[in-house]
Amino acid sequence: MTAHRLVTLTGAGGIGKTRLGLEIARQLLPTFPDGVFLADLAPVSDGALVPVTTAAALNLTLVAAAVSTEGIASAISTKRLLLVLDNCEHLVDPSARMAQALLRASPDVSLLVTSREPLRVEGEYVYRVPPLAMPPEDADMEEDVFRLPV
Ligand SMILES: Nc1ncnc2c1ncn2[C@@H]1O[C@H](COP(=O)(O)OP(=O)(O)O)[C@@H](O)[C@H]1O
Ligand SMILES: [Mg+2]
Repeated sequence: MTAHRLVTLTGAGGIGKTRLGLEIARQLLPTFPDGVFLADLAPVSDGALVPVTTAAALNLTLVAAAVSTEGIASAISTKRLLLVLDNCEHLVDPSARMAQALLRASPDVSLLVTSREPLRVEGEYVYRVPPLAMPPEDADMEEDVFRLPV
């Protein structure tokens, strides 16, 4: 995230993209003076609602006409913030348009995206989230793996 303004965490459903993304965002809090914001697109079924969902996530109070990809980009064009677009896989095209507009209009805005598929936007750095390691074959499974370390 320090080298790229748009990083997309890809990988199969359930592999841990959202969890990793939230942890990265948490660690980056001190880096972005205007804040870190999360737009969860999982419950959004209509791509036309990506702008209003993003505006709400950014706490923007825009007049209705400005609730568009371009309106949002111009509203945050001078901000130094990180926007997490989480769970974009079913809305890749509108998410890509949003990401592209923000990258162009807002030089100090960074984006962290989680999606099964990359957005295919210029400048996107794609990180394939690896699966968690399995316990070794000879692991002592008598041990309760869910027990919290003390
Ligand atoms: N590193 C991890 N350690 C333990 N549990 C994890 C880890 N990564 C993900 N999980 C759990 O696995 C489930 C799926 O993770 P999630 O981040 O939602 O996946 P994705 O966004 O790729 O679909 C969640 O319940 C999450 O808490
Ligand atoms: Mg997810």
